[in-house]
Amino acid sequence: MKKFLGALCVLALAACSGQGGGGDTAQGLAAENWVTLGGDIGKSHYSQLEDINRETVGRLGLAWAVDLGTNRGLEATPVVVDGVMYTSGVAGRVYAFDAASGKELWRFEPQVDMQINRTVCCDMVNRGVAVAKGKVYVTSLDGWMYALDAKTGAVAWKADAVADRRRGDNSTGAPEVAGDVVVIGNAGAEYDVRGSVSAFDLETGKLVWRFYVVPRDPKLGPQDHPDLEQAVKTWDPNSRWDVGGGGAPWDAINYDPETGLVLVGTGNGGPYATSRRSPKGGDNLYLGSIVALDARTGRLKWHYQETPGDNWDYTSTSPMILTRMSVDGEERPVVLHAPKNGFLYVLDRRDGKLLRANALVRMNWADGVDMKTGRPNLTPERSDYTTGPRIVFPATPGARNWHPAAYDPETGLYIGTVQDMGNAIYMTPGQKPLQAKMLNNDASLLFSSDLEAILPSLPPVLRDPIAALPEMKWVKENPGSTELRAIDPLTGQTKWAYKMGGWQDRGGALATAGGLVFQGSIDGHFRVFDKASGKLLKEIDTGTSILAAPMTYKVNGVQYVAVMAAWGGGGYPYVPPYSAAYKRGNQGRILVFKLDGGAVPIPAELPPLDVAPEAPAQAPGVTPATIAQGMTLFMGNCALCHSNQPRSITPDLRRMSEGTHKAFKQIVLGGLLLPNGMPRWDDRLSEKDVDAIHAYLIDLQRQTRAEELEKRRRGLPLDTPGLTILSNY
Ligand code: HEC
Repeated sequence: MKKFLGALCVLALAACSGQGGGGDTAQGLAAENWVTLGGDIGKSHYSQLEDINRETVGRLGLAWAVDLGTNRGLEATPVVVDGVMYTSGVAGRVYAFDAASGKELWRFEPQVDMQINRTVCCDMVNRGVAVAKGKVYVTSLDGWMYALDAKTGAVAWKADAVADRRRGDNSTGAPEVAGDVVVIGNAGAEYDVRGSVSAFDLETGKLVWRFYVVPRDPKLGPQDHPDLEQAVKTWDPNSRWDVGGGGAPWDAINYDPETGLVLVGTGNGGPYATSRRSPKGGDNLYLGSIVALDARTGRLKWHYQETPGDNWDYTSTSPMILTRMSVDGEERPVVLHAPKNGFLYVLDRRDGKLLRANALVRMNWADGVDMKTGRPNLTPERSDYTTGPRIVFPATPGARNWHPAAYDPETGLYIGTVQDMGNAIYMTPGQKPLQAKMLNNDASLLFSSDLEAILPSLPPVLRDPIAALPEMKWVKENPGSTELRAIDPLTGQTKWAYKMGGWQDRGGALATAGGLVFQGSIDGHFRVFDKASGKLLKEIDTGTSILAAPMTYKVNGVQYVAVMAAWGGGGYPYVPPYSAAYKRGNQGRILVFKLDGGAVPIPAELPPLDVAPEAPAQAPGVTPATIAQGMTLFMGNCALCHSNQPRSITPDLRRMSEGTHKAFKQIVLGGLLLPNGMPRWDDRLSEKDVDAIHAYLIDLQRQTRAEELEKRRRGLPLDTPGLTILSNY
């Protein structure tokens, strides 16, 4: 009966309000349809379907697959309404498929200004669409919201979701339908961005309201809206207003029809270091917060700041789950949220009252949360890197990130990947000039799955202070672990855990009434677990890395499970050696499974790496100083995308062909490869700068070739990528 009601409710919602919006979260769980990214309006990533269950899952096989013809990241969870699957791909492409056969019904290719990639830190991804009242909503990478006819894909309207195009805004999130409006936040708080949330009329695309996450320079007069008058008091009046302050709410946005509120998780501070952003400190509202906005007006109803005065890139943008649970004997409507900062919060979603804040991982930025005041007990003596390098736990990629978790109402478990790891942070030497549309992070980040192992390769000014930190003990005991965990959200306790392949391996999760949890891995395996015990029940090698969350639906009596498969997102140029993307390339696909399906076609292995081709001779007049200058320019402008590692997603510039060397200037200054995402630089770099970069790369290619010839002579493998990720973003 319960199940029947739930299914009915979802169908009725899909038909009436058209979006799974309205109605009761606890009742509207997904069944045949999967109407939001998380299935139901609360986005619990849980389905009532149970044809695929503990007994039958052994028969799981491929129903259909579509190759999307991209090697960039795919992060969206598809939506299925009445037998049609809608999903988004690179830069905001949209696809509509017959959900039973995989036949493409239409696709939409937004005309994206690819120059936007200059302010995209973490791949040209898109996290999905919203479907309501016969329209499909998506936001392109360059920040345009599109409303498409759900039947044909034709553009019904298009609206600018970027508040200030002079800044570094872009968009990677999924729109959220909230009553009569559709809501989206901006992305890009690694650049000069001022976080904002924009709401457009569902029918016309007219801007209805805009909420800014951070105040503007008080010298410019009154704030854009009254909520910011409160916020501005928590910033130094001499803050770096010119670089926007950050706070970009690039993912979690949840409409709560019970309260009429839109809950928004806000982003990190920009620049990262509080001392550079707001020199006198302060909480810097509304960074690292959940803000609850009135869906009709955009005015703030309540807020809860998870990371006051963020100093560590602790976004609060991880997906939220709205549900109900009994807390201390009282039945409450709650929001579950585990942001980057390492806590799993349970809040009453009517008023933001803090009910639980359990630490999921080791942390040294805070020592618990004071449940009376709701404030974390900050421990800057262990985590403030402005006075010297620190190893900060959790690491910058966060204990959790964008990868969706599931909430299983039957077991009461919160199921998602959790990363227990620290990374070294230190101030980039010298005062970094913070400027428009440039990476504005003054902190350098050092990641490694084995920090201890890379210490000897660091210069003594870094190595010695890092080696002396008390956190080295943590690193030695356990350098880092990433697990799929089933957690009791009221105690933070782990009921079961499954160890993932490494710290980049943190796929989204799906739980079902069939007693199962589905999850993909970047090692290419699609896995199914018993949700109560964590026992691995089924494993399918797909040959494609998976990060996105699986979802499930039913058409004509058949249950399907779908997932978008590709490596990508933050750190995308560093393809982990254990990943399927490293071995077989990054062939982005949609994979759909059913009982008694077939085998998944596995992409062929990449050919073995060849020795870097010979580089051309240096131009006359190139000196070691030219090469050094070229390296600095390369690190500041190019390295975020070009990791120069074998099998990277972007070209390894130590392996350029003769033709590429010849076209170097046309590529870098002239935008020859702009349509493929390689920006042009003629507004920022002079011909002389580009010559210097080229000289540096020629030098690097020669060194690489010499080293690789030597390795080949000694019979050693060529493609051992470095352990270190060293960047100043
Ligand atoms: C936003 C990410 C990004 C940044 C920043 C970036 N590139 Fe690229 N670059 C790309 C992508 C993606 C390609 C591959 C384009 C293609 O597939 O045609 C590329 C290709 C190239 C190529 C062609 C290589 C080949 O073998 O075909 C060169 C040369 C190049 N980039 C140089 C640079 C330089 C120099 C800079 C810094 C001034 C830079 N890039 C910054 C993304 C980037």
